[in-house]
Amino acid sequence: MSTQTDQVGDALAESTSAASLARTMERSAQIEAQIEVDPSRFRILTGDRPTGNLHLGHYFGTLKSRVELQRKGVETWILIADYQVITDRDGVGPLRERVFSILADYLAAGLHPEETTIFTHSAVPALNQLMLPFLALVTDSELRRNPTVKAEYEATGGRPMSGLLLTYPVHQAADILFCKANIVPVGKDQLPHLEQARVVARRFDERYGRVDPGTPVFPAPEALLSEAPLLLGTDGQKMSKSRGNTIELGMDADTTAKLLKKAVTDADRRITYDPENRPEVSNLVMLAALSTGRSPQDIADEIGDAGAGALKKLVIEAVNEHLAPIRARRAELVADHGYLARVLARGNERANAVADATLDEVRTAMQMKYV
Ligand code: TRP
Repeated sequence: MSTQTDQVGDALAESTSAASLARTMERSAQIEAQIEVDPSRFRILTGDRPTGNLHLGHYFGTLKSRVELQRKGVETWILIADYQVITDRDGVGPLRERVFSILADYLAAGLHPEETTIFTHSAVPALNQLMLPFLALVTDSELRRNPTVKAEYEATGGRPMSGLLLTYPVHQAADILFCKANIVPVGKDQLPHLEQARVVARRFDERYGRVDPGTPVFPAPEALLSEAPLLLGTDGQKMSKSRGNTIELGMDADTTAKLLKKAVTDADRRITYDPENRPEVSNLVMLAALSTGRSPQDIADEIGDAGAGALKKLVIEAVNEHLAPIRARRAELVADHGYLARVLARGNERANAVADATLDEVRTAMQMKYV
């Protein structure tokens, strides 16, 4: 097993290499094209950890494209990954509040509960139970070498690694495989997870065989790489809640204006779009471009010598205008807790039905269906 394991460890690390990334991007573009032709061939699963309110980075990075996939008719499953919150922290924080807040963000952004199934880990026992057979298909050494686990571990400042942190890629494989998703929209950083899910799917097939001879119990999921530009925070650093540099979807227009007015720029009055050399200014230009649907070049040309003040004014107007209908809808949703609770209950119910059916197949393949 050790040779096989070494190869898998390499495959996970390989999944972020330049050559592998190029292949994944090419394949991702093919999938993109196939979705246009026949969206019914695909089932998408993706999700978020409920660790804080969603912000513009999430919105332009992933939320908008999820809404777009839903519009194209791809069956979409969205996981609020509550169990994953405890991988690298002791407490759960104000979890209940955050789950409902993220749900409100999803719906306000345009995810429709009849078309998109939104659910939480903790409400789907059969999903979590897949963790048992799946754990038997991986080794500790390949988990230790998983680039995502390593990155998470380093972020904890070297505190001892919990068993869950070590094995959470296997849990994430269960997230993807329980509903037999064949597409996972991800950023580059999540590619090792996807590779882990593919490994689990393949090994399950090798070890336990099939229920239906023609198809493996678990199809190998593929990545849909997001092309969304990376937005920075208002300080020009990586956008993160703990830095206080984010614009949340649920913030009001005045708070948004205040935060954007304080955004870091540089000493050059003339506004240009030059992400490499002028990351802060270019980030504001990009934000205006994304919010208006115009090109960054066009925005930069319009502002030109009018300077950072004029740029900020444009960004504030553009962001607030773009978010206004979303925020109005969000406020309505938050005021109707009963509705949000019903949406989640319905999503959980659907996820359970699918997870139960999958677990049943797993038991059959594993000869564990006795009665
Ligand atoms: N790991 C993802 C994040 O931190 C959240 C997540 C959990 C996820 N399960 C998933 C994403 C399955 C895609 C597929 O944001």
